[in-house]
Amino acid sequence: MTDLSVANNTGMAAFDVEKVRQDFPILSRQVNGKPLVYLDNGASAQKPLAVLEAMDHYYRTMHSNVHRGAHTLGDEATTAFEGARETVRRFINAPSTREVIWTRGTTEAINIVANGLAPRLRKGDEILVSQMEHHANIVPWQMVAERTGARVLPVQVTPEGELDLDSFGTLLNERTRVLAITQVSNVLGTINPVAPLLEQARAKGVITVVDGAQAVPHFRPDVQTLGCDFYVFSSHKLFGPTGIGVLYGREQLLEELPPFQGGGEMIERVSFERTTWNTLPYKFEAGTPPIAEAIGLGAAIDYLEGMDRNALEAAESELLERANALVETVPGMRVIGQAKRKVPVMSFKIDGLHPSDIGTLLDQQGIAIRTGHHCAMPLMDFYGVPGTARASFAFYNTLEEVGQLFNALRKIQRLLA
Ligand code: ALA
Repeated sequence: MTDLSVANNTGMAAFDVEKVRQDFPILSRQVNGKPLVYLDNGASAQKPLAVLEAMDHYYRTMHSNVHRGAHTLGDEATTAFEGARETVRRFINAPSTREVIWTRGTTEAINIVANGLAPRLRKGDEILVSQMEHHANIVPWQMVAERTGARVLPVQVTPEGELDLDSFGTLLNERTRVLAITQVSNVLGTINPVAPLLEQARAKGVITVVDGAQAVPHFRPDVQTLGCDFYVFSSHKLFGPTGIGVLYGREQLLEELPPFQGGGEMIERVSFERTTWNTLPYKFEAGTPPIAEAIGLGAAIDYLEGMDRNALEAAESELLERANALVETVPGMRVIGQAKRKVPVMSFKIDGLHPSDIGTLLDQQGIAIRTGHHCAMPLMDFYGVPGTARASFAFYNTLEEVGQLFNALRKIQRLLA
C-alpha cells in the first residue's frame, strides 16, 4: 500500500489521497469487473459528494425560479444562485459579480465574445489564436472572420509543445484586433506563459481572451493578475456539474458588447417600439438560468478551496513525474508534448498501435482514457498524427493507478505491436 498515499511520498500532511477519494462515490465502482481507474479528467472530472448534495438539497428544499418569485422559495433560490456567482467571483478574483456571466460552458462563452466583437471587426483585421487551441477557440473566430472579412492566424507551436514566442512576436502587429489563447493545452498539458503575451497584446490595444477550461482544475486563476479582457471556463472539468460555465469580462467591454441571445431576464423594458437591455450580468443571461448547476459549481469551488491547493498541485506533479518515468518501460511509446511547465496530461502514441485500440483494451482493464483528435485537429496536423491516446490525471488519482496504466500498456504492447 506504500504507493497509495501521495501524502506519504511527498511528506505533506495536508493531503491524504485515500481520504479524498472517499469524497467521490464514482471512484469506488467497477468497470468490466475491475476497479475503475479514471484517467479522463481532461474530458470531464468526477464530482464530489459536496456537489451532489448541494444540488440535491436545492431541488429538495428550495427549487423555484430566480429573480421573479414574490415568495420564500424564490428568494431562497435567488440567494443561493447569486451566492454561487460571488463564489466564482472570489475564485477568479474578478472585481465585481457584474463581470461574472453564466454560460452553458467554455464553448458558449467564446461564442458570446466572438459574436459580440464581430461589429468591431473589418476586412483585413487579424485574430490571433494558437496552433494548440481546442476547436472551441478556433471555429467561433473563423465564423466571425467569414462574416467580417477578418483573418484567423495561428501562433506556431514548437516540437516540444510550447508556444513559439518568435512566431507570436512576428504575428502580433497593428492589424491584430483579438488575441484568443488557451492557458493550458488540452492535448499537450502545456501551461502557456499567457501573462506576458497578454501584456504585449494590450500594449497594442488588442482585446484578449483566455480559455481557462483546462487550467482551472489545476490552479486558481486570477483575472486581475493575468490582465485579460475575457476569461472563460467550464464547470464540469472543475468537479462541478455539466451544463454551466463562466464568462468573465471586463465590465466596460461587457457594457459595450451586444447581447448574444434575446428573451426573458436579459431585458430592462420591452415594447414593440423599443426594447432595452438589463444591467450586467443579466444582459447576457436570457431565459431561466442553470440554477442547480450554478449552486453545484459554487459547491465544487468551495470543496476545492477547502483543500491545500499547493498540496494538490504537488500531488498532481508527482503523478505526472511517475508517468514520465515509466514511459521508457513501454517499447515504442512516445509522449506528445514535452513542455517544461505542464499540468498532469499525457498524450502518447505507441508504435504499431492505433490509439482507439489502446483505449478499448485499457477499458477492458477498467482504465478510462480518451483517444482521438481531442477537438484539436490543427495540432494533430502539426504532429502529423490522426490522433493520440491521452491520460489526464486529477488530484484523486493515485501513484498506484499510474502503475496500473503502465502495466496495462506493456501488456497491450506485447499482445498487439
Ligand atoms: N475538451 C475536452 C477534452 O479535451 C472535452 O477532452
